[in-house]
Amino acid sequence: MQIQSLSSSPLETAADALAVGIYEDAPLAGATAEVDKALGGAVRGLIDRKEFSGGSYETAPLLVPMGQAKQALLVGLGKKDAFNTGEAFRCAAAASRALAAKSRSDVAFYLDEGWNAEQSESGVAGALVGCLGQDIHRAEKKRHPFQTIHWSTKNAAAIDSGRILGNAVNLTRNLVNSPADEIYPETFALRAAEVAENHGLEIEVWDEKKLAAEKCNALLAVAKGSSRPARLVILKYNGGGKGDSPLAIVGKGVTFDSGGLSLKPSEAMLTMKCDKAGACTMLGAVQAIAALKLPINVIGIAGLVENMTGPAAMKLGDVLTARNGRTIEVHNTDAEGRLVLADALDVAVELGAEHIIDLATLTGAVIVALGMEVAGLMTNDPPWCDAVAGAARKVGEPVWELPMYPEIYDDLIKSEVADIKNVGEGRWAGAITAAKFLEQFIGDTSWTHIDLAGPAFREKPRPWIDAGGSGQYVRTLVEVARAWKK
Ligand code: BES
Ligand code: MN
Ligand code: ZN
Repeated sequence: MQIQSLSSSPLETAADALAVGIYEDAPLAGATAEVDKALGGAVRGLIDRKEFSGGSYETAPLLVPMGQAKQALLVGLGKKDAFNTGEAFRCAAAASRALAAKSRSDVAFYLDEGWNAEQSESGVAGALVGCLGQDIHRAEKKRHPFQTIHWSTKNAAAIDSGRILGNAVNLTRNLVNSPADEIYPETFALRAAEVAENHGLEIEVWDEKKLAAEKCNALLAVAKGSSRPARLVILKYNGGGKGDSPLAIVGKGVTFDSGGLSLKPSEAMLTMKCDKAGACTMLGAVQAIAALKLPINVIGIAGLVENMTGPAAMKLGDVLTARNGRTIEVHNTDAEGRLVLADALDVAVELGAEHIIDLATLTGAVIVALGMEVAGLMTNDPPWCDAVAGAARKVGEPVWELPMYPEIYDDLIKSEVADIKNVGEGRWAGAITAAKFLEQFIGDTSWTHIDLAGPAFREKPRPWIDAGGSGQYVRTLVEVARAWKK
């Protein structure tokens, strides 16, 4: 898909469709006013009769020719005061999603009038995200990506960076949406190698032999129940100075989570191809950071396993010795993500990361706490968590911090037979006890954990995005990298 900067006025643009924006509480302006005039005030009439309000993500097709264009789409941009970067992404995506319901080759967007550079960039990214669906395997597609997006903007440089962000989010979404028989640890590693090749990244892939030599016993214990061997992927992007200590992004890559012997019920298992979303988010973000040539060093690590019930599967009561020497008593084989991350985080620490972010679809408990749209943040270093939350706020991806009081939560993961156990006491504070477990493998390194079990994968579509993998937090990670040490 091409994205081209557009300078002609809407009525002179030969496109299959024009998208024009309307704020809920502002007079018609720019391209929208031109379209209204060409239609003899019909747009104004729709608003006056309350057929269309301009609320965020509202769209209405005007199925008549509009100058050189075959039709136009009215796109609600919400209240002008409330408009921001996140809204730019979602409103553009909503417009794109509506237009991509039919096959159209050239679509011209006139939403970006008076937007700042960040909003323009996010709008372009949103236009790419909205037109891609989750129907990789469907003969009859529900979304039809355009051949060319024409984007009208005063911030032409934002088109390139917006394309990079949109493509990265879509890479993550496509990977998350790929079923477990296509993307398993070995094939994920191949996809990571492709990204590395295309973007000049260093890559190391640890296979099961290397993982054993590296004492990644907690990660390997999860993989034992599967016929698919485990992998650990280490990507290095060296955009910074030689001696600059890196930012590490670590992702949970459980390519399918059956629960293991602590088997999940069918309904809960159905969507568990999404349990690799942390690793997919890492890969999308590292691709974007490299393509943007950001001046920092980044290490991306993916811990890749399939959690199954084969004859060699890890059993309840097993005691594992993690890479950092901590012993873990297994109380529940469905709390597998923390076992994978235990070793992956230790690798990040050993590689000299200055700051670590991990992303994981780690607990159902975080969904109980925060719902489907908001990721939970947990940290051992509040200023670092504030930096991550600030980046998320800036790009409009919702997060909320959960507490880590040592005097309250540390005892809950103590074991009678090992250093720690892989569950808390009962169901309470399940997202936090999982983070407390991870904290055992971080040492003194500054670390923020993102539990994205809710937002990583949508069971229902939203106006701006189809159901399935969301790619949410790719843009946050890029923003963290941009703001790093500035
Ligand atoms: N992958 C799941 C968490 C999950 C749940 C992700 C729903 C996405 C949607 C994780 O491995 C898991 O099963 N966690 C258990 C932990 C429990 C056994 C302590 C959970 O949350 O039930
Ligand atoms: Mn699980
Ligand atoms: Zn899991």
